[in-house]
Amino acid sequence: MQEYKGRLTLAKGTYVEFVVAPDEDVDFGDILAVEGKNDDIFYIRVYDFKVKSRWSDLKGVGYLMSKLDGEGKAENQEELDFYLGGNHTVKVGMAEQLCYANANGDLFNPKTCPDFFCEVRALRKEDAILLAELKGDLEIGLLKSGRAIMDLPVGIYGNKTIGEHIGVFGTTGSGKSNLVKVLAGSIATNGNYGVLIFDVHNEYHNALIQHPRAKEKVFIYHTGESNGYAKQLKLDYSQLSIEAIVSCANFTEPQLDALFKLSTVWQDKWLEYILNYEVEDIIEALKEETGQKFQSRTISKIKSICWNLKQELNINGYEEDVLKEIINKLETGNIVLVEMKEISNLGEYALSTLLSQALLHYYTCKTEVEREKTKTVLIVLEEAHRFLGKKSHANNNIFAQLVSEARKFNLGMCVIDQQPRLLADQVLSQLNTLFILGLASKADRSKLESMSRKDILKQRNEIKNLDCGEMIAATNYMRFAAPVKVYKYEDYLEHLSH
Ligand SMILES: Nc1ncnc2c1ncn2[C@@H]1O[C@H](COP(=O)(O)OP(=O)(O)O)[C@@H](O)[C@H]1O
Ligand SMILES: [Mg+2]
Repeated sequence: MQEYKGRLTLAKGTYVEFVVAPDEDVDFGDILAVEGKNDDIFYIRVYDFKVKSRWSDLKGVGYLMSKLDGEGKAENQEELDFYLGGNHTVKVGMAEQLCYANANGDLFNPKTCPDFFCEVRALRKEDAILLAELKGDLEIGLLKSGRAIMDLPVGIYGNKTIGEHIGVFGTTGSGKSNLVKVLAGSIATNGNYGVLIFDVHNEYHNALIQHPRAKEKVFIYHTGESNGYAKQLKLDYSQLSIEAIVSCANFTEPQLDALFKLSTVWQDKWLEYILNYEVEDIIEALKEETGQKFQSRTISKIKSICWNLKQELNINGYEEDVLKEIINKLETGNIVLVEMKEISNLGEYALSTLLSQALLHYYTCKTEVEREKTKTVLIVLEEAHRFLGKKSHANNNIFAQLVSEARKFNLGMCVIDQQPRLLADQVLSQLNTLFILGLASKADRSKLESMSRKDILKQRNEIKNLDCGEMIAATNYMRFAAPVKVYKYEDYLEHLSH
């Protein structure tokens, strides 16, 4: 890509116009540098164009039209080229100043504008200050500049983003799963953070075990028998919380009431007892303890759901505490993958709820000092609207709690969805980092525009035109939202080995 892009022709506030040098490509979303007078460098982002010509007025257009034949074809192309060529016609880039660097290399938010006719050029390696801020410690891809992909890595700082929640949005096929792989891969490379991924399609293990540090960093669990790559997940009776049960099915008021009474009366043993006792005996026991007589239909329904969960999630009285093992892996900075393709929605809801709850509980109980020694953990939740949609959020389930409270405890959510508009506003407003991939629906794009903490309105044209694997990364601490070509996971691994 050519470095020289054009000359500045107008600046007003943070708005900048420049003529694009003939034969140069400048695209929506390009980030360019304007060389100021005192070795200042102004960084600008192009968001629109206008084409201007001395022929632009009605008379001019009429004159040019007279050079065409009845079918709109040029009668004399050479003559027409002459009229249109040279500096009779210019393309003007409309851009916004993002920040500027002074001669000492300090970066500032816009405070002044560049001067008339300053040179506009592409970014290059020497724009190190800007690029250091963009790079972070978790690399995700390369800076995109319009059509070109630059050899400039972009990423995020885990310590500034994970605890503040991340949203990944894009239509099916836009590259969400690939992005999760790369993010998890980067976290494994870095080693300073933990990730818990609920893998509903069993699509991640193949990728993650290819990682050079997989043996020490990646741990896979599933509900089937332990095998070469995954360990069997087992739970003790006491580990299935009431919240986990409640999350997985629609219970009636009396059923909910019975559930809470059961857990109050039998505490840790409630699940074991409800599974092992006859319905009549349970009703009797509850009546004795609480004075309330529940119907056998109510208890049967609870018993039946508990039985299903016991089968699916291997709930039993075990010596080995797999749940604790998972939490320890996470707090020491590992990738934990929980495969859920084989289990029903019911099991998936219960399992993801109880794991997240256990993690939140564990982190909440730590003292400040202990917490400093533990790693920040990211919980990756796919098709998040199922848990954090407008209705489910109102139930204040564990994920809603995590979104609103977790940041205090070094936990963060990575909320993934193809339709951000389905998520509760309270959730969207808590996401301090957004990875916006291609979104086909205007309603989804508008929703993000209105909820994003960074002003991404000016990037509307860019967002509309994102291809597979391309995204806009907007995070709180970055001065501007950056266009990124996410590494294809296989290329990321390749890139690691160099
Ligand atoms: N950054 C990327 N670079 C190149 N190809 C990509 C990239 N991201 C995704 N793809 C390809 O696009 C397809 C869909 O990606 P995927 O991550 O599964 O999308 P989603 O999870 O959003 O449905 C995959 O075949 C993947 O290889
Ligand atoms: Mg996917």
